[in-house]
Amino acid sequence: MPTITNIEDLKRLHRRRAPKMFYDYCESGSWSEQTFRENTSDFDQIRLRQRVAIDMANRSTATQLIGQDVAMPVALAPVGLTGMQNADGEIKAAKAAEKFGVPYCLSTMSICSIEDVAANTSKPFWMQVYTLKDDDFMRGLFDRAKAANCSAAVITVDLQLLGQRHKDLKNGLSAPPKLTPKSIANMATKVPWGLEMLQTKRRFFGNIVGHAKGVNDPASLTTWTAESFDQSLNWDRIREFRKMWNGPLIIKGILDPRDAIEACNVGADAIVVSNHGGRQLDGALSSIRALEPIMDAVGDKIEVHLDSGIRSGQDVLKAVAMGAKGAWIGRAYIYGLGAMGEAGVTKALEVIHKELDTSMALCGHRDVNTVDRDILMVPKNFSGDWS
Ligand SMILES: Cc1cc2nc3c(=O)[nH]c(=O)nc-3n(C[C@H](O)[C@H](O)[C@H](O)COP(=O)(O)O)c2cc1C
Repeated sequence: MPTITNIEDLKRLHRRRAPKMFYDYCESGSWSEQTFRENTSDFDQIRLRQRVAIDMANRSTATQLIGQDVAMPVALAPVGLTGMQNADGEIKAAKAAEKFGVPYCLSTMSICSIEDVAANTSKPFWMQVYTLKDDDFMRGLFDRAKAANCSAAVITVDLQLLGQRHKDLKNGLSAPPKLTPKSIANMATKVPWGLEMLQTKRRFFGNIVGHAKGVNDPASLTTWTAESFDQSLNWDRIREFRKMWNGPLIIKGILDPRDAIEACNVGADAIVVSNHGGRQLDGALSSIRALEPIMDAVGDKIEVHLDSGIRSGQDVLKAVAMGAKGAWIGRAYIYGLGAMGEAGVTKALEVIHKELDTSMALCGHRDVNTVDRDILMVPKNFSGDWS
């Protein structure tokens, strides 16, 4: 077993162990991938302020996200096709999150279903929903999340249509993978992945096949997906979803202060400042740059979380210092899952926790809840002086 010291190590192993089609699906942004790149490079522009001779014994990273106790201000973001990176991937990731004491958010486009994850975990998880036209399917999804005891619904609002990711088109991405000479040749080099995949029944979109009208096989799913995303979505429709779900509600995919205000007005409990990991509007601001203007607009009215670009505990610390109550990770835990299954997700969480804890201490804080903007050195005009 190689010595893993950072998220980059897990990424290298993920690349080696998962089929190219699925690694590429994870490691891509839309079009030129500018936003995808800047999500991480913008974090690097922010520096941390070292303090010394401050008592750093007895530290704590524990806090609350939407009123729920967490071991650190981190949540596992919803990631479609997680169960293709490693067999039963959603269950493995949810188990690792639950043992670590951080929330796991299941994607609508997961391979393991809501019911599968609920049956294999003991703590409530969060359920992400895409905004689809089919009212019956949407009601059904919220009802199923309620029946599974989900402790929050997360409505993703930045995907009314899909940003193009070139690699997915070139690789012919599908779940389960289409068998072509190229995909077979590649999968033949991923033997442990293939053996585990053969041992599970979960190889389709578990929340959709058999639940959406007329979708009983993967072929009809392709048509369904293309036709179902609601391009006419507006805030009134999101108000209807609010009525379908009376538990804690998080709105994910906000980058503009005006949209953050709308999210407050529909009665959300939290928002996630996110550009979908650079997978939707290429050319959009990185999330960390978009955060401060949003904090100024709604920071005292609603809990603000952030994702996109977090690859270390230092990134979590920077997001928290800028005002985010929580930082969600997507690729960072998927690398771990693709590398080593549940143990890899645990490793990703351990790496991030250690980096967060140590960096927080070296900035002179013992409690993550006291961390503030004072620990940061941010380039002037970081949020941008755009016209
Ligand atoms: C492979 C992949 C699939 C994703 N699928 C979903 C999804 O099904 N629903 C959703 O709301 N967000 C989805 N996202 C976005 C993540 O929830 C999150 O916003 C993003 O990964 C954060 O950026 P990071 O990967 O740089 O941490 C996906 C991201 C990736 C990388």
